[in-house]
Amino acid sequence: MSESLAVTGTTKKERYESLLPQIKALVEGESDPIANLSNIMAALKYGMDFFWVGVYLAGAKQLILGPFQGPVACTRIAFGKGVCGACWEQKQTIIVEDVDKFPGHIACSSLSKSEIVLPAFDKDGNVTLVLDVDSEHLASFDETDKTYLQQVIELIEGFTPALPKTEGN
Ligand code: SME
Repeated sequence: MSESLAVTGTTKKERYESLLPQIKALVEGESDPIANLSNIMAALKYGMDFFWVGVYLAGAKQLILGPFQGPVACTRIAFGKGVCGACWEQKQTIIVEDVDKFPGHIACSSLSKSEIVLPAFDKDGNVTLVLDVDSEHLASFDETDKTYLQQVIELIEGFTPALPKTEGN
């Protein structure tokens, strides 16, 4: 594993394409899911210059904060609540251009203005975690983010069966 990432490109697409193989290389040969999630969050934060990026792990009725990079965040989110809870309930990616216009948005930081949340699934179709990325700017996320972050989700789905069961009840 190299010590640091070298992300090239000026467009978002170019940066994702430069970063993704490096993220894959980071997790190759490591089976521990928390170690891998931690490195992936750091790679995304510093590779893409995100304001906040992290995962919330699905328990019985709540999401619990997992590995992340950025300002401190709320630790528990109920099923269906906020963008993360809605993503869990709807089992689909949600892009929010203006968090103030999303009913029930949970503001962990008043600086956060837009976000994207993607679900990861187990083999039975249950949500195991959600990946949340926040921006300090309005409308930062689009189909390009969805496409490339979905590739990160697929990588994560490869090792999430080994996740310890989170309390989350
Ligand atoms: N905004 C999210 C909560 C998580 S933080 O942004 C890190 C939500 O509404 O679910």
